[in-house]
Order: sequence, then C-alpha cells, then structure tokens
Amino acid sequence: MIKQAIIPLAGLGTRMLPLTSVIPKELLPINGKPNIEYILDECIEAGIKEFIFIISNNKLSIKKYFFNDNFYKKIIKKKKDKRIKSELKKLKKYQKMIKFVYQNKPKGTGDAVLKCKKFIKSKYFLMLLPDDLIIKFNCSKEMIKLHKKTQSSIIATKKVNKKTVSRWGILSIKNKKKKYFKINDVIEKPSIKKAPSNFAIIGRYILPKSIFGEIKKLKPGKGGEVHITDAIKRLIGRKHKFYGSIFAGKYLDCGTMDGYINSGNQIFKGKK
Ligand code: G1P
Repeated sequence: MIKQAIIPLAGLGTRMLPLTSVIPKELLPINGKPNIEYILDECIEAGIKEFIFIISNNKLSIKKYFFNDNFYKKIIKKKKDKRIKSELKKLKKYQKMIKFVYQNKPKGTGDAVLKCKKFIKSKYFLMLLPDDLIIKFNCSKEMIKLHKKTQSSIIATKKVNKKTVSRWGILSIKNKKKKYFKINDVIEKPSIKKAPSNFAIIGRYILPKSIFGEIKKLKPGKGGEVHITDAIKRLIGRKHKFYGSIFAGKYLDCGTMDGYINSGNQIFKGKK
C-alpha cells in the first residue's frame, strides 16, 4: 500500500522572482488556496497518510504556514470567527501528517529524495513536484491503481508538443495501451533529435525504495544537479519495471509566471 508522499520544496523558485524572494512559490495562492494545498488534497483523496516535506532554511515559512497554532488561538480568543476556526481545524489535519527534512543546497530532485531515506517505511512511495498541478481527475489515485495492477513503479505522463521536449524528462515507450505503457528508458531534457518520444514526465512518481541506492551512485547531471530521472534510468537498466500512466486530468504548469497566472484562471473558470 502506498501511504507516504515525498514533496521536494527546497527549490529556489527563480522562474517566479521577484515574488519568490520573500514568498515560497508553493505558498502562492491559486484562486485563494496555496499551491501546496492542492497537492496535499489530491494525495489525501488518494489514500496518502503521511507527507515528507523537503524544505530549506530559506523556506521556513512553509513550516510556519502549517504550524502556527498560537497565532490562531490568540485571534480566536478575541474574535469568535467560524471561518478562522475551520481554517485552523484544516491546518491541524495537515499538521498530523507532515514531517520535515532539510535540503539547504539546491542540488536537485534526486538529492532531495535521498534526504528522505530513513523515513520511508514501505517498498514504494509517491513523489510529487508541486509545480505541476493536475485538476479535474485525481492523478495520484490513477497511478496507485496502475501500481496495484502492475506491481511496478509508475510515472505520470502526457504527450507534449515535440518542439518543447528539451523542457522535460522524456520517456522511451513500449507496448502502448490506451492509458499506460511500459517505459523502456528515460532521458532528462533531451534535444529534439535525441528525444525518443514526446511523452513527457509530469511531476508524479511512484518509486521503489531501491531508488535510494541508485541516487547514491549518481554524479551531478544536467545543470550540475542530481536528477531523479537519472536514478530511474539506472533502475530501468537493472530491469526494474516502470510504467507511464497517461493521466486523464488537466495539467497546469505552476512553475512559471505565465503558467501560474493561467492556472489561477483555469481553476477559477472551473468553479464558476
Ligand atoms: C522536473 C523533472 C523533469 C520533469 C519536470 C515536470 O524538471 O526533472 O523530468 O519532466 O520536472 O515538470 P523541472 O521542472 O524541475 O525543470
């Protein structure tokens, strides 16, 4: 059973400066709710019971956002406001589920995942990149279902415009069915020439515990960072099975300013 989710949150957010010089991008509101809460709610609905947040000393406000009880208690004492009470109740629900680990140097997703090694209890865990929101259909739930069916690791994927392959991790595919396929190989941000397909990795992964050993063996890759994609490549090379889950939901890229603005508009439209 997949009960734990890892969320790397230590990134610098340079694509969203100057906002991110003072506010972590994961706390920026999208239609009134911080980005990170969309991710948590997707996971909780999919049966996740524990979150491991990888933060940095520069992003302690993420911790404060969830663990600021005294601030609320003082206000509630003075002002009996139902809305504030229910917000505190919601935060307390999240609190019970969150643990923190620290990545003070932005050395990449692989390095972030490795920091969680000692907390992972089961054979498989979920990992989500909070820049990637998926709405309308629960992607994590779909992936867990495919994991149960295949007893394998899973990566969320969607077809992207061929011209944009160098922005993503790209999958080499085998035996494509309607909603999933076996992954033959992965390559981080290839040139158009080198891309084996235009199926891109979107930030949701079901990974095996054995990934930690592979991350340890990695040297920094593209951009000087340790990429989870490179550890996955090694596992596939060792015959570990990975499947791509072609998710049904709508993908929203919150990692750039244009994408962030569009996400807010899309979610707002959906609620009208
Ligand atoms: C990361 C991953 C990449 C993946 C992408 C999805 O890249 O390294 O494989 O396709 O997330 O958003 P980043 O967005 O950090 O450049």
